[in-house]
Amino acid sequence: MTEQVFLGLDVGTSGVKAILVSSSGDVQASATSPLTMQTPHAGWAEQHPHAWWDATLVSIKAVKRARPDAIIAGVGISGQMHSSVFLDRAGEVIRPALLWCDGRTTAECAEITQRVGGEERLRELACNPALEGFTLPKVLWLRKHEPEAYARLATVMLPKDYIRYRLTGVLATDPSDASATLMYDTAHLRWSEEILRAVDVPMSIVPSVGGSSEVLGTVTAEAAAVTGVSQGTPVVGGGADNACGAAGVGAVTAGEVVSSWGTSGTVLAPMLKPSVDPGLRAHTFCHVAPGVWYMMGVVLSAGGAFSWYRDQFARELAGSSDADLRLNDEAGTVGAGADGVTFLPYLQGERTPHRDAAARGAFLGLSMAHTRAHTTRAVLEGVCFALRDSLTILQELGLSPSQVLLTGGGAKSAFIRRLQSEVFGLPVSTVNREEGPAYGAALLAAVGVGAFSDLATAAKATLTRGAPEHPRADAHAAYAESYARFRKSFRAARPDLLSS
Ligand code: XUL
Repeated sequence: MTEQVFLGLDVGTSGVKAILVSSSGDVQASATSPLTMQTPHAGWAEQHPHAWWDATLVSIKAVKRARPDAIIAGVGISGQMHSSVFLDRAGEVIRPALLWCDGRTTAECAEITQRVGGEERLRELACNPALEGFTLPKVLWLRKHEPEAYARLATVMLPKDYIRYRLTGVLATDPSDASATLMYDTAHLRWSEEILRAVDVPMSIVPSVGGSSEVLGTVTAEAAAVTGVSQGTPVVGGGADNACGAAGVGAVTAGEVVSSWGTSGTVLAPMLKPSVDPGLRAHTFCHVAPGVWYMMGVVLSAGGAFSWYRDQFARELAGSSDADLRLNDEAGTVGAGADGVTFLPYLQGERTPHRDAAARGAFLGLSMAHTRAHTTRAVLEGVCFALRDSLTILQELGLSPSQVLLTGGGAKSAFIRRLQSEVFGLPVSTVNREEGPAYGAALLAAVGVGAFSDLATAAKATLTRGAPEHPRADAHAAYAESYARFRKSFRAARPDLLSS
């Protein structure tokens, strides 16, 4: 029997995921093709959009092979935020994309802030400050450092928009990704002519903006031939991975808090107006549900820090499918606080709360008595402490969540679920689907083709929340000292400034 399904894609940093989701919400097939990230200099991060497209083809073909009879009724795409796809007039990629965790644009951030008329004005226009990872500073970097490439620049777009472009031939984006470029008036939902004029970048480089669950194009004959997805299949606007990840666990309106553990780590809270952190430590972006925004703190290296640690210091586990689990078990043999070892996860600099692209990672407090179990535990704790920094900001701004919804790697591992709960001092819960942003993207496709009236209805019909896991009474208190040590250790993340 043939069945109607929705294809959800997620263009991540470590891989491109494809899933097929039925109208009742079951995940019928899932495949991920790995990606690598190039770091040509410390703090830089690049990927080529062609690598995303190639990985997308492999993943789509794998899910199609798993369900040859399924009829794909709609496609939704989610992707890494901010990363810059530079296209020329013919739609060709000009150079590799600068990624969301690339820190090379500090000078361009200062230039934007100054040309727009100061941080206060920028905040009024974009709801955010200029940060290295955002898209506009990357455009200015290209203009300054690669003028020949800049001369060819016709369009700058986001990773998931490039995949839609390859599928449909349509150049477009959606509010959740547009609002994370620093070129969008996040509160009024339109490109900011004032910002673009101030930095002398033409409005013509930004694509049109359509709704996240609106059909923005259909699969072309050429894309159908290489993907196996039928020509004419509708493709919706989709959205930023953090927004789609929140949708994928049903966090589409105010009152929810989501902690996501991917290559980056984020703590996100949807809200019904575009409130801004007065300290500008957390970001404010548009959600994939119309009329909803969210505030989010970002840890640039969460799962990314753990993968780096595993690949460098647990080489004997290379290639084994349970490497992460074994390292989690190893960490579990040591008590809370890793016997005084602290890890600062700032391998690519840090956004929240430090806004410091020059920060770097560190291990502190090592002695001959420590083992790899201690350093492994310190890495996992360090990421959770960094996430707690973001959660604390949201709490300071008035949020008082009764629990935190988990998604990503931190939701799948029992050890990291407990660690988050006990470091946060809050119950944590998960939903019955583990596919994260790809799941949210599939729900957007389902809404776009009319299978559900809206995203909230789609989430309600397809997701079930598990019972909250509560922190042990004494455990949260046990982390107080090590969290305080983590907070105080930030100076060690700036060895260049230690002598000053
Ligand atoms: C959010 C951010 C990251 C990426 C990861 O601002 O930069 O979470 O979206 O793909």
